Amino acid sequence: MNNMEFNKIFAAVLIAGIIAMFSGFIAKNIIHSHEMEEDAVAIAGIEGASGGGPAKAAMPEPVLHLIATADVAQGEKLSKVCAACHSFDNGGPNGVGPNLWGIVGAKKAHLDGFAYSDGLAGMGGNWDYASLNKFLWKPKAYVDGTKMNFIGLKKPEDRAAVIAWLRTKAGSSAALPSDSQIAAEKAELEPEVSEAPAEGEAPAEEGAGEHHKG
Ligand code: HEC
Repeated sequence: MNNMEFNKIFAAVLIAGIIAMFSGFIAKNIIHSHEMEEDAVAIAGIEGASGGGPAKAAMPEPVLHLIATADVAQGEKLSKVCAACHSFDNGGPNGVGPNLWGIVGAKKAHLDGFAYSDGLAGMGGNWDYASLNKFLWKPKAYVDGTKMNFIGLKKPEDRAAVIAWLRTKAGSSAALPSDSQIAAEKAELEPEVSEAPAEGEAPAEEGAGEHHKG
């Protein structure tokens, strides 16, 4: 081995070493930004859960997917609180609130003879499953100035059960929610959940990519 060859080999080893160091440096940074991203996701999740957070409290959980299998008997039990103000039988009297026979799918403010609040009377549209979910979750949040003086049903299972029971109080029951209605409700009420599955690698990778760009 002459001097020249030795130099070449030495240079090659040196360069290899530099490349190794440099790629180690890059790798470290990539891993580092991964970690950052994962932490950010986890913290966001904790904040959402612990704060009872503004984002969480502003919208009810979706329930359309629960209605087909909801506990109708439980819904009937829960309806006892509604019965203080509502009757549910065909031709039943209005109380503090209107009779609710056939309410699922009926137009909002469905009885001509009842003195509805301006908010409900002017709302338009029908009581589809998605709007019943929002109204029964927090009547006052859904209908501006509503006369329904009721705090709401906080548990999604309870709302699903009551709605499933209301569905039976009709001449012919409204069709069950379709797959596309179920998907639309989830997309509206659970936008974070579709992005958040933090166990998947995709969100972290996306985030790391953004870091490198910026
Ligand atoms: C304290 C009395 C009261 C209770 C309890 C109550 N409601 Fe009402 N409800 C009303 C009143 C009053 C209205 C009319 C609201 C308006 O005009 O804004 C109403 C309206 C409604 C409507 C809309 C009716 C329509 O014609 O558009 C639905 C649906 C409804 N209530 C369901 C329920 C259910 C289900 C429960 C039980 C989980 C319940 N309510 C509990 C008083 C009550």
